[in-house]
Formats: sequence, C-alpha cells, structure tokens
Amino acid sequence: MNITIFGTGYVGLVTGACLADVGHNVLCMDVDQAKIAKLENGQIPIYEPGLENIVRHTVEAGRLCFTTDAEKAVRHSSLQFIAVGTPPDEDGSADLQYVTAVARSIGQYMDDYTVVVDKSTVPVGTADKVKAAVRGQLDSRGLELEFDVVSNPEFLKEGAAINDFMKPDRIIIGCDSDRAADMLREVYSPFNRSHDRMVYMDIRSAELTKYAANALLATKISFMNEIANLAERLGADIEAVRRGIGSDPRIGYHFIYPGCGYGGSCFPKDVQALARTAESIGYEAKLLNAVESVNYAQKHVLFDKISHYFRGDLKGKVVGLWGLAFKPNTDDMREASARTLMEDLWKAGATVQAFDPEAMEETQRIYGDEARLTLCGTKEQAIKGADVLAICTEWKEFRSPDFKAIAENIKHPVVFDGRNLYEPEILERHGLLYYAIGRGRNQ
Ligand code: UGA
Repeated sequence: MNITIFGTGYVGLVTGACLADVGHNVLCMDVDQAKIAKLENGQIPIYEPGLENIVRHTVEAGRLCFTTDAEKAVRHSSLQFIAVGTPPDEDGSADLQYVTAVARSIGQYMDDYTVVVDKSTVPVGTADKVKAAVRGQLDSRGLELEFDVVSNPEFLKEGAAINDFMKPDRIIIGCDSDRAADMLREVYSPFNRSHDRMVYMDIRSAELTKYAANALLATKISFMNEIANLAERLGADIEAVRRGIGSDPRIGYHFIYPGCGYGGSCFPKDVQALARTAESIGYEAKLLNAVESVNYAQKHVLFDKISHYFRGDLKGKVVGLWGLAFKPNTDDMREASARTLMEDLWKAGATVQAFDPEAMEETQRIYGDEARLTLCGTKEQAIKGADVLAICTEWKEFRSPDFKAIAENIKHPVVFDGRNLYEPEILERHGLLYYAIGRGRNQ
C-alpha cells in the first residue's frame, strides 16, 4: 500500500521504516530540510538500535522516500499518518499547532477519499479538531470529498522501538468508519499474524488509552519511589520489597524499579498533559498530580544524599557521573535525571566529570558552554580524581565495574547509585560506602 507519514521524529521515522520494511511504499514528509537531506543520505538523526539498517535497505529498495513537499506527500497516498510533535505548552498541556497544520495541508491537497491517522500522542478530542481542519480546507476549495480520521496511538519504547513496532502487544484503532478500519487492518496485517492484536474502539477511547497507559506506568514508578523513600527511613530494603511484591502476578515484576525518577519525552509530558486536560474540564486529577510531584522530588534525591554526605558543603567538590541519557540504549536526554543532578551540583558549587556510552554528543549540544562540566571519553576517566561517584543511568557497562579501581580513584570512598545496580555487600568488601535508592537496611 502507499502510505504517507508526516513527521520524521522518533515515532514517524520508526513507523515509516518498519512499514516500508514489510513491503509498503512509504513517503516521509518533514518541514526540516536539513533533516530530510541527511535522511536521504542514509544519516539517522537519532540513536535507535536497528533503525539505520532498516532505513538503509528500504531506501535502497525504493520503498522508503523522503520529501519536504507537502503537496507531493499528500498526493502519494490515501493513508496519511500524522506523527509530528506535540510539545508541552507553558502550562504543560499539549501544543497541537503542528498536528493541525498537517491536517490543513491534507485538506488543501487531497483529491480522493483519504484516511487521516493520528499517531502523535494527542489529547482526547484532537481527532475532532483534525476533522475540522481538513473539512475547513475542503470547504474553501469547494470540494465535498469523503475522509475519515482514525486514532492509532503508538506504544514504542526508545531503545526497543523496532522490536516494539514489529511485535506489538496491541494495535489500537479508534475509528467510526468500517472503510477506514479495513484499510488499517490491511496496513497492519504483516504485524498481526500469530494472533489478533487489533483492538478497535471509538476515537476518544483510543486517544485516552495512550495517556492512560503512560500515566499508569508512571504511577507504578512514582509509587515504588515513594515506598523506597519510606524503606530508607524505616530500615527496610526496597530491593527485597520489590521482589516480594512482584511475585504476586496481579502486581508483576515489570516497571516497579525504584530510582532517581523517570524522564524521557513521554512520561513527564503525558502525565502533565492529562492532568491539564482534567483541569480544563474542572476535574482535579489528584493521583496524576501526585505522580508528577513525587517524580519531581525524586530527581533531587541523589543530590540530597551527596549534599548530606558532605554536610551541605559542596564547594570545589568533583562528582564523577556515570550515565546521562534518561535510560539505557538511547542518547536522549530529555527530562533526564542526570540533568537535574548536574544542575543541582553546579548550583551548590561542585563540578562534574561525566561519561555516557551514547549521549556525549547530545550532552555537548546541551551543555557545551558549561565550564563546570568535563566530558570524559570513558567511565574510568570520569572517576579519575573525582571526590565521589554518582550513577544516573543503568547502562550494561556500569553493571559490573572494577570496584577496586573505583575505590582507588575516588577521594572519598562513596558511590551514590540512582539505579540500584549493585549488591551492597560487594561494595562494602571493597571498602566503598554505598548510597542507593530505598536501601535503608544497608545504610
Ligand atoms: C514510554 C513507554 O514505556 C512506551 O510504552 C510509550 O510508547 C512511550 O513512553 C511513548 O509514549 O512514546 P520511553 O519513554 O521510551 O517509553 O521509556 P521507558 O522505558 O518507559 O522509561 C521511562 C522512564 O522510566 C525512564 O527514565 C526509566 O529509567 C524510568 N523507569 C522505568 C523507572 O524508573 N523504573 C522502572 O521500573 C521503569
């Protein structure tokens, strides 16, 4: 099938590449000319395992193309996916200007029955706005063409996006037209073989499903972080508690890892946007607000521990930092806990020597002018001459470090671990003090 994707960000590019991989003819459109020029040369603007390969071979096969020409993009197909950004407004609600601009382009250039698919994460009611924007353009052209708007939210995890797209848990289709539903079933049939993963529902429910999924996952994390903070104060070990509750299948082991807060482009933004939606209809979303404020506080927890250790005097102290990305297997630093920690440390007069396996370029882009930050080429360099070590991201290569070398290289024998990577006894054996999250029994 011919398919058009508006937006070559995370969701758009992964969707376009994977749909082309299974045989569709995909044209990706973006207004960013520099980005499109790079993509045409096989350069991928984001780090995502496996993506570059798929883009390269589908471009070579002629099934994946790029353009900055909206008219060409709309004329390419009768299936128009909207996967542009919905950044937060100043008050945290989702800014829909890019989504509605695409909808207007579709109305401006379509010349036959068209299905418009909302793939961006958009507040409940957006499909109606998209419909109105398309209709407005058709009216001004004096045309009465038929079209449908479908909500088809995306559930990709960064770092595992290709696998998530190729083997989805579910494919949510919010739709009020059989014709559009049939077209979407055909688009996704290659991903729907072993059992039926298509879940059909009304449009508003599909829009809310996306927010509900992310908000529930964020709730699990904030809940665990709150229990971790309690465990610390009560002399209990959250890691034992985690295993103890996870064994109940109604709770499960997934997504109950405490840490120095959740980050990324999705959870913080989506929890806030849903809370703002609630507010806008006069409903106070008490739980969502609490999830957000627990996370806000949790991002400062490592700093508080470091500051406490040095009795509030961090002037001139050097903190070796492992992990800058908001999670492993990505170079994405949006809302990363490491940023909060570094900014807290700088404010208190400390400097930072940092290393991340993938996010060094991104760190350079964001903090290139920051004199209080030294970017290090290896994790070993980051601890050389540092006072203490702090860890913000659970990259594999941090899981089994040379503890003897750590103890020899840092001036104070303390590791502040925001991701609970180690057995406290092992660090103890190497003469290291270990401050992790919620491990009161060991502290
Ligand atoms: C998240 C969702 O997991 C995806 O299902 C969703 O499609 C995506 O948002 C989106 O809306 O586009 P992502 O932001 O890539 O995916 O990252 P996650 O793997 O969910 O991690 C988010 C944050 O939670 C990270 O900072 C991670 O360190 C933290 N986390 C995760 C915890 O602190 N504890 C956990 O147990 C799990």
